[in-house]
Amino acid sequence: MSNNTRENFGSKMGAVLAAAGSAVGLGNIWRFPIETGQNGGAAFIIIYVACVLLLGIPIMMSEFFIGRHTHTNTAGAYRKLAPGTPWRWVGRLGVLSGFIILSYYSVVAGWTAEYTVLALSNSFDGKTTADFPAIFAQFVSNPWKSVAWMLGFMVVTHIIVVRGVKSGIEKFSKLMMPALFVILVILAICSVTLPGASQGLEFLLKPDFSKITGATVLNAMGQAFFSLSLGLGCLCTYASYFGNDTNIGKTALNVSLIDTFVAIMSGFIIFPAVFNAGYTLSSSDIGPSLLFITMPNVFGQAFGDIPALAYGVSVLFYFLLVLAALTSTISMHEVVTAYVSEEFDMNRHKAATIVTATCSAVGIICALSFGPFEGVKIFGMSIFDLFDYVASNIFLPLGGMLIAIFTGWYLDKKIVRDEISNNGALRVPYLRIVFFILRYVAPVAIAIILLGQLGLF
Ligand code: PHE
Repeated sequence: MSNNTRENFGSKMGAVLAAAGSAVGLGNIWRFPIETGQNGGAAFIIIYVACVLLLGIPIMMSEFFIGRHTHTNTAGAYRKLAPGTPWRWVGRLGVLSGFIILSYYSVVAGWTAEYTVLALSNSFDGKTTADFPAIFAQFVSNPWKSVAWMLGFMVVTHIIVVRGVKSGIEKFSKLMMPALFVILVILAICSVTLPGASQGLEFLLKPDFSKITGATVLNAMGQAFFSLSLGLGCLCTYASYFGNDTNIGKTALNVSLIDTFVAIMSGFIIFPAVFNAGYTLSSSDIGPSLLFITMPNVFGQAFGDIPALAYGVSVLFYFLLVLAALTSTISMHEVVTAYVSEEFDMNRHKAATIVTATCSAVGIICALSFGPFEGVKIFGMSIFDLFDYVASNIFLPLGGMLIAIFTGWYLDKKIVRDEISNNGALRVPYLRIVFFILRYVAPVAIAIILLGQLGLF
């Protein structure tokens, strides 16, 4: 597809909200509280914020200027900037990661939709602590239900992506992100005003540095990557729709602040309620089952005196997850759709249909790995866990490291300077620090994360 048919975001606000929509997702409301719970609370949050500022923002800026400079999909971007070199594989790796993550992420996104419906139909009312694990186990092992929800989520994502950059991605981000913020604040207020909330607040605000280990730092870096959607070209693809006057540094700062705000607010929603309901931080309460086993029970117990409040909080919480997941699945779909459409010269509709069909096929396999395919183990992991492990623990950090090396060492400094300063129109006193991080700090730090994820460090 030639560049003159390419759309751009209609406004800077739309661009920020779309990129923030990609970043804000299940990573913020599910993974972040789990990581915080398992890594000691406030001390983890401090390290996490340091990782976002030190590594996340410079790498996000790299993705932004690579995309904006080339105005093409992520694989095409590297081909344009480094023709005839193996760097094009960085973009292709990103597309592959987007494809894999979309496939299994849609399964969990489908669960959030099922739980929204369960909450709406007041199905959690009158249930005891012992009932919730069974409700979840029954649901995920039911092949038809979890596949149907996954497909439903994929179709909604498809419909938005097909509408295009301005009237699909931007328009829906502008609707969904403000709704998400409003729900987030309402839920945080409800939770923070619960009796006994102070224990949860203390956990989030009072650091205990004795809890920090090497693993805490590794987990914080890994979480920052996943949460900021770094390393797979989502932000690079979105930036290819940025206008030439978009301030790349400011946009990266805003997106990172929004993402971090949502993660911390999720902690304010979850921990006061969890402690109020008498839960501990034992790994089974705060582990992967947090959202679908612990939380429905927690809301019933914490707000049980006023049933209408327990009902409202549950509905809003699961709807919040649906919104967060949807803005992220859109961005992953767009990475692959832009690639297929531009690299294989196809119209958007056809490209998106191919992406939806193939991702759905892989998604079905992931969904069934909780039911009929439960026994299928590769390297000791279920298919779902394997995809999650390979994409988020290996491909994302690897992509991030290569992006840092590409911009820090390979790319002409002038391109970087011109892009960040909008051809000299903006003052960018932070440029030298960004370069220093991209050249030295990020590659070394990410290499350590990668070796850590592979158990080699
Ligand atoms: N950042 C998203 C989240 O927090 C997940 C994601 C990862 C989205 C990578 C796009 C790319 O849930």
